Amino acid sequence: MGLLDISIIRMVSKLVLVLLLFHHVVIAQYPSCPDEERSALLQFKDSFTIDKSASRSTDAYPKVSSWKPAEGGNSTCCSWEGVECDEKTGHVIGLDLGSSCLHGSINSNSSLFRLVHLQRLNLFDNNFNYSQIPPRIRNFPSLTHLDLSTCVFSGQVPSELSLLSKLTYLDLSGNVVYLSEDEYRPLLKLEASDLGSLVQNLTSLEVLSLSFVNISSAMPHSMANLSSLTALHLKGCHLFGEFPVRIFQLPNLESLSVRYNQDLTGYFPEFNRSSPLMLLKVSYTSFFGNVPSSIGNLDSLQELDVAQCNFSEGLVPSSLGNLRQLTYLDISANKFGGLIPDSLANLTQLATFRISTSRLTGPIPPWLGNFSKLEYLDFAFNELNGSIPASFSNLTNLQILYLHSNSLSGVVEFQMFQNLQFLYQLQLNWNKIDFVTESRIVNSTVPQFTILGLSFCNIREFPSFLQYQKHLKRLDLSRNKIRGQVPKWMWNTSIETLLLLDISQNFISDQPPLFLPWVNLLCIRFSSNMFHGSLPIPPPTMREYAAADNNFTGEISPLLCNTKNLQYLDLSKNNLSGMLPQCLGNFSDQLILLLLENNSFHGIIPQTYNKGSNLRMIDVSHNKLQGQLPRSLVNCIMLEYLVLSNNRFNDTFPIWLGTLLELKLLAMRHNGFYGGIGKSRKNVDFPKLRILDLAYNDFTGAVPSVFPDITVNKSAYMYTNVIYNVNGFWIVNSVDYQLTIATKGLERYYPKIREEFASFDISCNKFEGKIPEFIGNLKELRSLNLSHNILTGSIPSSLGNLMKLESLDLSKNKLSGRIPQQLAQLNFLSSFNVSHNNLTGPIPQGTQLTSLNVTSYEGNPGLCGDPLPKKCGNPPPLPPSTVDEGDSSSEGIFEFDWKIVLAGCGSGLVVGVVLADVVITRRPDLFLKIVGMIRQMIRKI
Ligand SMILES: *[C@@H]1O[C@H](CO)[C@@H](O)[C@H](O)[C@H]1NC(C)=O
Ligand SMILES: *[C@@H]1O[C@H](CO)[C@@H](O)[C@H](O)[C@H]1NC(C)=O
Ligand SMILES: *[C@@H]1O[C@H](CO)[C@@H](O)[C@H](O)[C@H]1NC(C)=O
Ligand SMILES: *[C@@H]1O[C@H](CO)[C@@H](O)[C@H](O)[C@H]1NC(C)=O
Ligand SMILES: *[C@@H]1O[C@H](CO)[C@@H](O)[C@H](O)[C@H]1NC(C)=O
Repeated sequence: MGLLDISIIRMVSKLVLVLLLFHHVVIAQYPSCPDEERSALLQFKDSFTIDKSASRSTDAYPKVSSWKPAEGGNSTCCSWEGVECDEKTGHVIGLDLGSSCLHGSINSNSSLFRLVHLQRLNLFDNNFNYSQIPPRIRNFPSLTHLDLSTCVFSGQVPSELSLLSKLTYLDLSGNVVYLSEDEYRPLLKLEASDLGSLVQNLTSLEVLSLSFVNISSAMPHSMANLSSLTALHLKGCHLFGEFPVRIFQLPNLESLSVRYNQDLTGYFPEFNRSSPLMLLKVSYTSFFGNVPSSIGNLDSLQELDVAQCNFSEGLVPSSLGNLRQLTYLDISANKFGGLIPDSLANLTQLATFRISTSRLTGPIPPWLGNFSKLEYLDFAFNELNGSIPASFSNLTNLQILYLHSNSLSGVVEFQMFQNLQFLYQLQLNWNKIDFVTESRIVNSTVPQFTILGLSFCNIREFPSFLQYQKHLKRLDLSRNKIRGQVPKWMWNTSIETLLLLDISQNFISDQPPLFLPWVNLLCIRFSSNMFHGSLPIPPPTMREYAAADNNFTGEISPLLCNTKNLQYLDLSKNNLSGMLPQCLGNFSDQLILLLLENNSFHGIIPQTYNKGSNLRMIDVSHNKLQGQLPRSLVNCIMLEYLVLSNNRFNDTFPIWLGTLLELKLLAMRHNGFYGGIGKSRKNVDFPKLRILDLAYNDFTGAVPSVFPDITVNKSAYMYTNVIYNVNGFWIVNSVDYQLTIATKGLERYYPKIREEFASFDISCNKFEGKIPEFIGNLKELRSLNLSHNILTGSIPSSLGNLMKLESLDLSKNKLSGRIPQQLAQLNFLSSFNVSHNNLTGPIPQGTQLTSLNVTSYEGNPGLCGDPLPKKCGNPPPLPPSTVDEGDSSSEGIFEFDWKIVLAGCGSGLVVGVVLADVVITRRPDLFLKIVGMIRQMIRKI
């Protein structure tokens, strides 16, 4: 996220200030400065080291290097760079050391405070090493300008600031610690009461910038009394409550930004022509209501940003078309919809134009091709249709074009972008377009991209212009129709820069090189192609390695263990063999997903899992793995999903996994697990387990009671998110739970499982004894399979409480007695099997139980009544009321869908860009959820 809030105003003010200072310095006869002040300055200089990295500006240089006594004694300090003296008295009245590479602490003993005549103090963009702003700042009673922005000051802002009653310019913004290029944490904190005093006392303020100071309070209404204010910047201050609407009416206010205060509410008043507003940014707040059409009265407005608020209005306000001066317009992620109004055709000065994540319909207007200053156009996540206007080839200043996730159609020829020399981000994913490239592309004329999103674009071969790309960071060619081999040059493209390559879901059949060539790669997605040969070895930087559903053969190289930051490893559905490298359990502290199912691995699974493991999903099913389960799996305290099915494991039931508080799914069918299943010693038994599959093992003893009954209110699919940010490059991935479940008499693969689904399958073991009563309390169960055991006794009538049950299989046991009448209440039951037991008596008549196939009941010589041919001798009377049939049709809780993988990344742009860019999905619910998560992460930092 760029810190500097396009604060043209501030920059301009600074420039003016600097010019003023130099003006003095250059043409004045330097007055001589008092010894005391000269030595104070020299001492001040000596209290720092000069460190180029202490300033972020590229123009930074150490201004204090010119500060030295002249030969033969003293010189006047008034000639020193950045020092301004009063012409008459010689006192130092201005100090401008912005971007001066100063590194070191400042405290109340600093000689700076001896310069008691200071009127202007500018220290922005240095590194004061987490110093507090010294309360001795009160020593400058004449101060009018104070700029301590981006200085690495920390702690409490001193209340003494409110004694500086002459201040007209106060900037404390940007004192943050950077965690990466676009992640940071605020360092300064301002008490609500101190903000109140500031606003009460500093009545002359013209510029007040406290962006990224943690204020965490409501805005004082008295702020609207600061009648001289020209600029008010309170971005990312954790403000809440209502924005004082009178602030909009301040007669001199030109620049207002309260962005990134998510809990700040407010609304727009009617605007009138006298307003001098030039910049108005309230994005990422909870501003609500309408954008009034009187916004068209803001003749001077150049920048308007209301993205991601709660503004509601049917259509994009056409009065925006009156704002002829606009260079920046972002109304994304509100509820604006309809056509892009033609009135906007007059906004020809726009450089940034964003209406993403809205409800735009209709075509993209061709007049946009006249916006010759356009640099950034974002209409992603809408319902736009028609083609991309040919006039876009005239947008020669365009740098970023996002049109992904719309319904655009038609042929898009790469040639239309070929002359857009500054275009470096192009996203056309998820439309219905045919993206075609002429095979003869002249390299000299191709724009150099960093982000290229061409997923789902009907591409049939690797676009030839890719061979001239030297700066690609992210390339998404997934879900196209690319066949055959990867061109040789492709393995050579953007070797140094590429971070993410997604070519999954094509028809590529090739043998990749032994080592992936991209030295900084974070993420590769090969999945669902026909790659063969051995699995290429990724660079150590790798975070995500998805090679599922190919024909890779051979063993996993132990070199994979060098990827210490790997978070996501999916090698499932290949023909890989050999032993699993033992490192796989703990080679990366970051590992979240380990998916190795459907291969031919043999031997034991990795034995060591460190404490603090981040593993959330492990699937090693359908291999030839054997031996015991490593007890250190219990260290994986985040584990949600453990699938061991269809192997040759030989162990007792891992009751010790009962301490895993997050475990929702444990599947171990078709193995050699054996023995009885007791209670675990600690009183923590699988508190979140919803799916337990023990079928086809050698378990004995009583039916295990390791299954809680938990109600889930949300109706979403279960998934795990993998979100990471490496130097500002976001990658977001959401992986659905998927599982083969035997239900309704069939083993089926479910690529998605709903959150509320609960199933208990212990079939095909040697469990004995009665069906325990507790099962009747598992009210969330959708599927219950106890078949093929040695269970005796009668069917508990409490099973009639399992009102959500869709599938019940009790067949092939030794159950006796009658079928309880209560089972007739199970409205959703669409599969029911009690065959091959010793049940007797009548099948409850007049219910859906009689509408089932005979096979549900056969092998019980004592049963009678419909649908069996055998009639009962003496039918009992019908119960007084029969239950409604209900709707037991459809697939119920299961739904088929393809596994959706969300992906994306930004690269050091403002977070708004990142947000719009992160998620490439057709599922707005997930998108919003993930956006929410990212916003939470950003709020946390
Ligand atoms: C040094 O400063 C003093 C007082 O400001 C002045 O009187 C004296 O002439 C200066 N000496 C030189 C060598 O400039
Ligand atoms: C406001 O300024 C006056 C005069 O400088 C001072 O006496 C008073 O303490 C200040 N109030 C606060 C709350 O700092
Ligand atoms: C653009 O401005 C001109 C001149 O004011 C006006 O006549 C025209 O109607 C405007 N165009 C649109 C599409 O609003
Ligand atoms: C590009 O602009 C020129 C000059 O305004 C115009 O003649 C031409 O038709 C435009 N090209 C397209 C494809 O719209
Ligand atoms: C194309 O690229 C090659 C190799 O980088 C270079 O030698 C050649 O001059 C380029 N051609 C043009 C027209 O720029």
